[in-house]
Amino acid sequence: MQNKLNLAVVGATGLVGRTMLKVLEERNFPFTDLKLLASARSAGQNIECFNQQYTVLELDENSFEDVDIALFSAGGSTSRKYAPIAAKAGCIVIDNSSAWRMDDNVPLVVPEVNPEDIWLHKGIIANPNCSTIQLMPVLNLLHKKYTLKRVVCSTYQSISGAGQAGVDKLLGELEGNKYDTKHQIAFNTMFHAISDANKDYTEEELKMVNETRKILHLESLPVSFTCVRLPILGGHAESVNIEFDNPIDIAEIKQLLAGGDGIEVVDDLEHEIYPTPQSVNGKDEIFVGRIRRDYSALNAINLWVVADNVRKGAATNAVQIAQEIISAWNAATE
Ligand code: A2P
Repeated sequence: MQNKLNLAVVGATGLVGRTMLKVLEERNFPFTDLKLLASARSAGQNIECFNQQYTVLELDENSFEDVDIALFSAGGSTSRKYAPIAAKAGCIVIDNSSAWRMDDNVPLVVPEVNPEDIWLHKGIIANPNCSTIQLMPVLNLLHKKYTLKRVVCSTYQSISGAGQAGVDKLLGELEGNKYDTKHQIAFNTMFHAISDANKDYTEEELKMVNETRKILHLESLPVSFTCVRLPILGGHAESVNIEFDNPIDIAEIKQLLAGGDGIEVVDDLEHEIYPTPQSVNGKDEIFVGRIRRDYSALNAINLWVVADNVRKGAATNAVQIAQEIISAWNAATE
């Protein structure tokens, strides 16, 4: 057992940061000292967790002295600036922003899929995008059995992916407030921001392409995504069409997914039983339903993948990475 473990949460006052604290608490995460960091705006605020009051400290360049693991969820620019400072101070950063995900020196990890990549880190480990995370364990299991040929996916994403500001905007619109944005989200659907790399796609869609290939180590896998934002507060759903190189068996696929680490199959259309963003709220697992053959192509299926984007899609995945690190440290010191 490691005799000291100092932990920090950067962005502890945010939607994901607060959920990280909740998940750490639920999992009895072992630590010696816990530091809650945020911007000057919320420094001095008290947050209760682990049956104790913690005072939020302002993030600065000296915040990481003596910190062993830091969970970051404070946006890309904060991560770009402070993750290297933390890594230089000897801390392992698990970063929920998109800042470092595609950096060749930074592993991008979903613990059910590529836990071994954690150990390629040079101080920073990236947590994938929320919609990418929930799809990976499903694709990985199916790939191992039948070999992925092509994946086409449309997402149905809640506004909590845009952080507290997105949630506040939707709630405000529902109360009749107007904001200076091109599209309102209440009673509507809309897309994420355009990508700089390809102006026909949104940033979110290209994140899903690049991150999927990196996590699965399938650099040229044919994949195509359309990412849609819905006026719901929490939970992301995905309609996924998958073609395989090898013959498939639907009963076998259901069994395979039901036995998958972190996956639950909820699939009984006859009785209207399938996962929804509401039914998965507050859960850590990835839920799969509507598993059916796609008769329009050879060896193809359709399925519906749903998860709580703030938990498995962000906070839980980051905490799971930290748990993997601690298990390995403990095993090494036993
Ligand atoms: P703060 O509460 O002080 O603004 P969300 O994604 O829900 O919007 O949360 C963003 C989180 O990132 C919050 O905890 C926020 O802190 C934190 N944050 C944003 N900008 C900075 C910054 N420049 N330095 C430190 N923390 C930041």
